[in-house]
Amino acid sequence: MAACLLLSILFLCSVFFHVSYPSSTLSFDEGFNPLYGEPNIIPFESNKSVKISMDERTSSGFHSKLMYMHGYFEASLKLPENYTAGVVVTFYTSNNQKYPFYHDEIDFEFLGHVDGQNWLVQTNFYGNGSTNRGREERYELWFDPSEDFHRYGILWSDSRITYYVDDVPIRHVKRVDAMGGDFPSKEMSLYGTIWNGSNWATNGGNSKLDLSYGPYVAKYSSFVINGCPFDPAQYCNNSLSSNEMTQEEIGDMVSFRREFMTYSYCYDRKRYAVPLPECVFNSQEFQHLQKFDPWTFASGGGLVGR
Ligand SMILES: *[C@@H]1O[C@H](CO)[C@@H](O)[C@H](O)[C@H]1NC(C)=O
Ligand SMILES: *[C@@H]1O[C@H](CO)[C@@H](O)[C@H](O)[C@H]1NC(C)=O
Ligand SMILES: *[C@@H]1O[C@H](CO)[C@@H](O)[C@H](O)[C@H]1NC(C)=O
Ligand SMILES: *[C@@H]1O[C@H](CO)[C@@H](O)[C@H](O)[C@H]1NC(C)=O
Ligand SMILES: *[C@@H]1O[C@H](CO)[C@@H](O)[C@H](O)[C@H]1NC(C)=O
Repeated sequence: MAACLLLSILFLCSVFFHVSYPSSTLSFDEGFNPLYGEPNIIPFESNKSVKISMDERTSSGFHSKLMYMHGYFEASLKLPENYTAGVVVTFYTSNNQKYPFYHDEIDFEFLGHVDGQNWLVQTNFYGNGSTNRGREERYELWFDPSEDFHRYGILWSDSRITYYVDDVPIRHVKRVDAMGGDFPSKEMSLYGTIWNGSNWATNGGNSKLDLSYGPYVAKYSSFVINGCPFDPAQYCNNSLSSNEMTQEEIGDMVSFRREFMTYSYCYDRKRYAVPLPECVFNSQEFQHLQKFDPWTFASGGGLVGR
């Protein structure tokens, strides 16, 4: 069993970046347990997939049975339909249960939606409790994520974090020494949750949760976990560190960000007078953000960019 696991890890890691996406899917009941709101967690398709919901009774969420030290994590999600203001749906890695005072986290967060407006998805990460240094970015999508399933992926190695939507890398964070502990570096579990984010999520908190449009149901399917299950007795070297994105992936990412990004902490000089150390200045991204939100991304921001 151990040898088999080791072999499969070596195999997966060696092909990790040469195939575009790893294909080891696992079912909900193989990989996950309920976290809270159990009555609203309904496995379907013979336990392969799961629906989690929020209604008058409760919100809900699940987490992985194991913790992982680096890896590629993916799920296909279909979001609740129609009016979903204040409804936050997440797919993320975290270790805040094990390390409540200095936790790591890598997030996808869907920020709810008022009929007729585009959905926004937010990405963020924290390292070793760096919760006073949010690293949020927000994007529109080129599809309606409540209409169908789409794949959301997090790649985490000791040198990079890359977020994927379907085949498109939408954000790439390269670790730099100056980040110190802010780069996630301890084993994490994988989570999916749905909850009331009325006070901040939709239109900055101006559009509120209305349970009369509920129950709000988020569906998760086709889970992929290609990671090293955490074992303190054994250093897991999945050798992702030297791998970079392909030219094609970089091209896709650049196009996506110039068209769909609506916020990035890297260009928000009102918040960070000096950009955080991993930020890489891109003049086209900056111009796009300025056109989109001239107040937040006032001119001059580019001058101190890196
Ligand atoms: C789904 O998982 C539950 C809990 O592990 C189990 O009791 C049930 O038999 C499973 N159903 C199917 C169809 O596999
Ligand atoms: C969403 O709204 C449309 C149009 O109002 C309606 O036809 C549809 O049934 C609604 N879907 C759900 C899941 O409530
Ligand atoms: C994380 O924070 C703890 C507590 O402050 C500290 O002891 C540890 O060295 C930090 N780890 C990293 C990687 O910075
Ligand atoms: C949702 O959260 C908001 C802000 O925290 C709170 O005022 C409101 O009562 C909550 N709504 C429900 C239905 O729990
Ligand atoms: C991990 O593996 C890579 C590639 O095989 C190697 O270059 C690196 O030195 C290894 N790191 C450790 C800490 O063993």
